[in-house]
Amino acid sequence: MSAVGIVAAAGSGLRLGADRPKALVPLGGRPLVVWAVATLLDGGVDEVVVAVPPAEREAFATVLRGTATLVDGGDTRTASVRAALDASDPGAAAVLVHDAARPLTPPGVVVRVLEALAAGAPAVVPVLPVVDTTVVVDADGVVTAAPDRATLRRVQTPQGFSRVVLAEAYRALPLGEELTDDAAVVRALGVPVRTVAGDERAAKVTVAHDLALAELQVQR
Ligand code: C5P
Repeated sequence: MSAVGIVAAAGSGLRLGADRPKALVPLGGRPLVVWAVATLLDGGVDEVVVAVPPAEREAFATVLRGTATLVDGGDTRTASVRAALDASDPGAAAVLVHDAARPLTPPGVVVRVLEALAAGAPAVVPVLPVVDTTVVVDADGVVTAAPDRATLRRVQTPQGFSRVVLAEAYRALPLGEELTDDAAVVRALGVPVRTVAGDERAAKVTVAHDLALAELQVQR
């Protein structure tokens, strides 16, 4: 099955406190975005489109050295993925959307997502169980509900879609409406989203502590 990879890499990385966009921050000597592109290609996608901060296009082109097509990202993740999707091969059967912020995702996760798509799923996300009791709070921080954690999952990337389905879902999403992941965009259209096993190593690098943990993993 032909598949395009999209990497959302246009975030600023404010919470990481770095001196450059998060996707350019090095891990084991390699920028996060380079790890993310390599994971997608190693897992079996045919080509990759990366959404980058417009002002940093040259820096991304330098580190990616022709391994991916670059597009200008937007002010939000939703806008960045929309831009990359518009620039991706319309003839591809599948699209996998991945966060640059998940550099150590093993290619096996990509393989599982592609297999589920090939088996007919229109949308598939990698997930992990929730091990902590997880609660809902009100504006004052008072607990209002404690959902049964056996039914909860943490959602990772890459998230895979039939290209036709994802393109239709983004077309139907009003401009300016922001959702935190792409599965939410297709669910808004009523499309069922299947799950496959994620991987703890696909953890998101958000704050400095996450980057320090990732460094320990690549040094082993
Ligand atoms: O901010 P957060 O860590 O949730 O961002 C997830 C991913 O979305 C990151 O890889 C980031 O680079 C990307 N992003 C983007 N465009 C934005 C904001 C975030 O591509 N405007």
